[in-house]
Amino acid sequence: MTNFDFQGSRLTSALSEAVSVTWQSPSNIALVKYWGKTGRQLPVNPSLSMTLSNACTVTKLTASPRKKEGSVELDLLFDDKPNAVFGERMSMFLASITEYYPWLEQVSLKLETKNTFPHSAGIASSASAFSALALCLCSLDNEFLGILLDESEFRSKASYIARLGSGSACRSLFPGLTLWGLTKSLHGSSDMLAVPVPEVHPVFTTLRDTIIIVNSREKPVSSTEGHSRMNGHAFAEARVKQAKKNTSELLHILKTGDKKNFIRIVENEALTLHALMMTSDNGFMLMEPETVRIIRKVQEFRKETGLHVCFTLDAGPNVHLLYFEDEIEQVNKLIVEDLIKNNKQNTRIDDFYGKGPVKLG
Ligand code: PMV
Repeated sequence: MTNFDFQGSRLTSALSEAVSVTWQSPSNIALVKYWGKTGRQLPVNPSLSMTLSNACTVTKLTASPRKKEGSVELDLLFDDKPNAVFGERMSMFLASITEYYPWLEQVSLKLETKNTFPHSAGIASSASAFSALALCLCSLDNEFLGILLDESEFRSKASYIARLGSGSACRSLFPGLTLWGLTKSLHGSSDMLAVPVPEVHPVFTTLRDTIIIVNSREKPVSSTEGHSRMNGHAFAEARVKQAKKNTSELLHILKTGDKKNFIRIVENEALTLHALMMTSDNGFMLMEPETVRIIRKVQEFRKETGLHVCFTLDAGPNVHLLYFEDEIEQVNKLIVEDLIKNNKQNTRIDDFYGKGPVKLG
């Protein structure tokens, strides 16, 4: 259970004027992957991610007076333009959380949202989008209720709400390394919201993530569909066991600064995620030949140089290259002289260990 209450606040009198709030929230990259869900967006296994810096969503939410209450009224602008598909998704999400925020049916809402990374980047924006929206909702709720939560309670509440929009979004609420899902290895962990990893060796705060874009088109299989393929998957039980073990080991590794075993777990998780896709009923493959080429090159380069660079993958063909600040120069040479040079898209996005969301207004 959560250790806080949603008070289910209604406005006692109609709003007299529009109230706005703006948050910037980052995306995150999973090191231990969340793959498979149950109940109301609850994970079947714990996951652990790194919050990014540059890949962010900036969201302004305005609540305006409304004559008569009723179902959620939302006007959405994405990059200053109406977007029917995104608007529909956000309206459905808001309608699904009116039990937490009954005032959503008493106001008119305007959601203005932008990403700080290019459209064609192939980066999943649901984590940054839903975490930014959850933060805006929590801020408005506090304002309407006239309550002042401490920072940690506020972020936890936002993490709980973000999870209901997109599971991985609940991990974007905190700086650095974040864990979502109940595990015996971390006191206070929960399936309902993410928590910051409490002990992180300084070396891991210097982590970099360069995304090598292999293909930026929309995924042929959505993550919702991918999660559902874990129901009845022949390896489901073994996967949960493996994710729990990897989470527990990674928590220890993050504490001690053991780069070698960090690499072992991170690559094991990336390959497992894609192996699970391939071995599900009606299996599918999101890696492309170029993805495999890059993976092989990274492993070869590591063997030859002894540098601490590894790869991870999201549910798509693009490769996230993880490495450390003190080896930027050598890894950059690999990126420029090989990874993107021989790559038709020739696109990279440089990101790094992030400080978490920021309130802009
Ligand atoms: O949050 P969702 O439902 O988009 O799922 C994300 C799943 C992965 O990105 C593949 C893994 C993860 O833990 O982020």
